[in-house]
Amino acid sequence: MAYSMARETLGLTQRGQIDTPQISFAAIEIDLVKWKGDMLAVGVTEKDMAKDENLKFKNSILLKLDKQLGGLLSEASSEEDFTGKVGQSTVLRLPGLGSKRIGLIGLGSTPSEIVSYRNLGETLGEAAKTSKSSKIAITLSSSEGLSAKSKIAIASAIATVVLGTYEDNRFKSEPKKLSLKSVEILGLGTGSEIDKKLKCAEDVCSGIIFGKELVNAPANVLTPGILAGEAMRIAFDYSDVFTATILDVEQCKQLKMGSYLGVAAASANPPHFIHLCYKPPGGAVKTKLALVGKGLTFDSGGYNIKTGPACLIELMKFDMGGAAAVFGAAKSLGQIKPAGVEVHFIVAACENMISGTGMRPGDIVTASNGKTIEVNNTDAEGRLTLADALVYACNQDVGKIVDLATLTGACVVALGRSIAGVFTPSDDLAKEVLAASEVTGEKLWRMPMEESYWESMKSEVADMVNTGGREGGAITAALFLKQFVDEKVQWMHIDMAGPVWNDKNKSATGFGVATLVEWVLNNSS
Ligand code: BES
Ligand code: MN
Ligand code: ZN
Repeated sequence: MAYSMARETLGLTQRGQIDTPQISFAAIEIDLVKWKGDMLAVGVTEKDMAKDENLKFKNSILLKLDKQLGGLLSEASSEEDFTGKVGQSTVLRLPGLGSKRIGLIGLGSTPSEIVSYRNLGETLGEAAKTSKSSKIAITLSSSEGLSAKSKIAIASAIATVVLGTYEDNRFKSEPKKLSLKSVEILGLGTGSEIDKKLKCAEDVCSGIIFGKELVNAPANVLTPGILAGEAMRIAFDYSDVFTATILDVEQCKQLKMGSYLGVAAASANPPHFIHLCYKPPGGAVKTKLALVGKGLTFDSGGYNIKTGPACLIELMKFDMGGAAAVFGAAKSLGQIKPAGVEVHFIVAACENMISGTGMRPGDIVTASNGKTIEVNNTDAEGRLTLADALVYACNQDVGKIVDLATLTGACVVALGRSIAGVFTPSDDLAKEVLAASEVTGEKLWRMPMEESYWESMKSEVADMVNTGGREGGAITAALFLKQFVDEKVQWMHIDMAGPVWNDKNKSATGFGVATLVEWVLNNSS
């Protein structure tokens, strides 16, 4: 089959082995002073750093450690100006403990939200990486008063430590080796309940890392065919719960996906329509969901080519960030195997390129629900591919659809890089997904679906054009997608053009995976 026999990679780049860090987690109880390993880390609030008139810690855990270290902890932490603020961390090499080093990691003033502990986990991972630690432990300076349930939630949030240590080295000629091997969580309880939650957190992290790797891979390596191959591998690895269907151009033609095929027409790498189906072990299904992702492995803009310094054409390998979120979630769910829920993962993968066979500005394409579209801008291609993907999703007999897409620069202008825009006519679905995002810490903001803006999407010659004006560009894009969704289905569109990419470390964020998994788990039984 075409997708398993990929063409030779353009530029001869070999895709490095996907090497998900294997880090073991355990929740144990042990006297801190006796714990042996490379780094003992303590998550401390600003309040815990308070000292009495004799410059001794008021907090009992810090006081105990300080005593064991002959006062050096208190001395060193003030020299390092460590005050417990969020994101602050200091690693001290002090003699006197079973541990080689002691790390202090700031939790801020009131770490009430679970997000604070996810951030703690990531900071811990970074600290472990810089100190080249292999075996670490983490505890909290104040955990008394927490319920068993919140202790478990905190422990699993801290498991994001995996994400802090992770570096995508696949395309370096001399990849660095990961040092971290084991993390022990002290003082938050033990037992099967917490072990189960830790395992689940690891599964989510592996999905996030997979999503990041898909986005980071350049477009010469990650073609639509290779993306389809990655999806098939998920179905193969978790074959007890997944089946894969990959449609080629001919099959898409038969389904009349003229909108999607129009976008794909210029490309030498053929499109692949990808559909994974998750069915729970045991079989009983109460809820059916679909996750649809934009899967442009590269977006040149087409004839409306991306030009100018701010157009980010060199980053447009990330234009399959929606697909990465969807397949990242699939990988996690393949491991977690929730009951009572069926999930369809749908991606119309292709490239938006330029050639004599490509779509011209002004062409009219016909989507699989029969609606015609005058393509007044070939760079508004994501919505054209999603149109056919959404029609296909509606035909899977699902009750709810969430689509994710790096759809508009306008959404980045509106909400910045950290926040994704949420568009849905359904208040119920908005509530569900926003609640899931509160747990995962991924930032979503609901935007209006102002129907009067549809005016700008009217065409003289076809049912609609594919672009309105510059104004309200994220909203008109969402209104366009709505034309391809069955009214009976609850549907949400998430525009993640901002959050897909971390500009500071020039790398994918894995945005969307955690929230999708959380939402699916909330829909399971
Ligand atoms: N993939 C882009 C959206 C995008 C732009 C994501 C910048 C991240 C950063 C999308 O296909 C696109 O080109 N959208 C156009 C739409 C316009 C032609 C109506 C845009 O936003 O400029
Ligand atoms: Mn585009
Ligand atoms: Zn695009």
